[in-house]
Amino acid sequence: MLAGIGNALRTVAAPAGLSPRANPAADIEEGSLNPVQTAHAAGLMRVNHAGEVAAQGLYQGHAIVARNREIEAKMQQAADEEFDHLAWCEQRLDELGEKPSKLSPVWYAGALAMGALSGVIGDKWSLGFIAETERQVCDHLDSHLHKLPADDARSRAIVTTMRDEEAKHGENAVAAGAAELPPAIKLLMRATAKFMTSTAYRL
Ligand SMILES: [Fe+2]
Ligand SMILES: [Fe+2]
Repeated sequence: MLAGIGNALRTVAAPAGLSPRANPAADIEEGSLNPVQTAHAAGLMRVNHAGEVAAQGLYQGHAIVARNREIEAKMQQAADEEFDHLAWCEQRLDELGEKPSKLSPVWYAGALAMGALSGVIGDKWSLGFIAETERQVCDHLDSHLHKLPADDARSRAIVTTMRDEEAKHGENAVAAGAAELPPAIKLLMRATAKFMTSTAYRL
C-alpha cells in the first residue's frame, strides 16, 4: 500500500525527474517554433502527459487487485516504461514553458478506479481494459504525430517512441490473456478519453 501511495504522489505531485532510460529527443536539435506553434505543441504534450498519468493509475489499479502475480510482474514492466514516458513528456512540457495538467489527480484517480474495478471482475477483464486502452492510445498518438508542428522534432521523437511501446504493451496484455471488451465499453472508453484529451489540452 505504501508503494502504491508513493507511486500516486510521484505521479501527480512531484516532478518525475530523470527517467531511467534516455529521452528519445536527447540528441535532437530544438526546432524554430513561433509562439502559436509552441503553445499548440505544449497543449498536445500536456494531453500526452495526462495520458501517462492515467497509465500509472491504470497499471497501479491492475496491480492492486491482480490475482495472478506472474501476470502482474509482466504488467509491471509496462508500468515502468510508462514512467519513462511520463518523465519525457514532463521534460518536453518544461522545455516548451508549460506545466502538466492541473487535473492530474483526477486523471490518476479515475484510471486507478477503472483498473481496479475491471480487475475485481477478473484478471482477463483488467487485461482487456489495458489492451483496449493501449490500442486507443496508439490511435491517439498517431493523430498527434500529424498534429504536432512540422518543426517540432523533439516532441515527435518522444511521441514516436511512446507509440511503439504502447503497441507492445497492448500486445503483451493480449498475450497474457486479455478478454475482448464489449463494443459499448470500447465506445464509452473513447468518449471518456475524448473528454480527457480536450480538457487537458487547455488545463
Ligand atoms: Fe505510455
Ligand atoms: Fe502503454
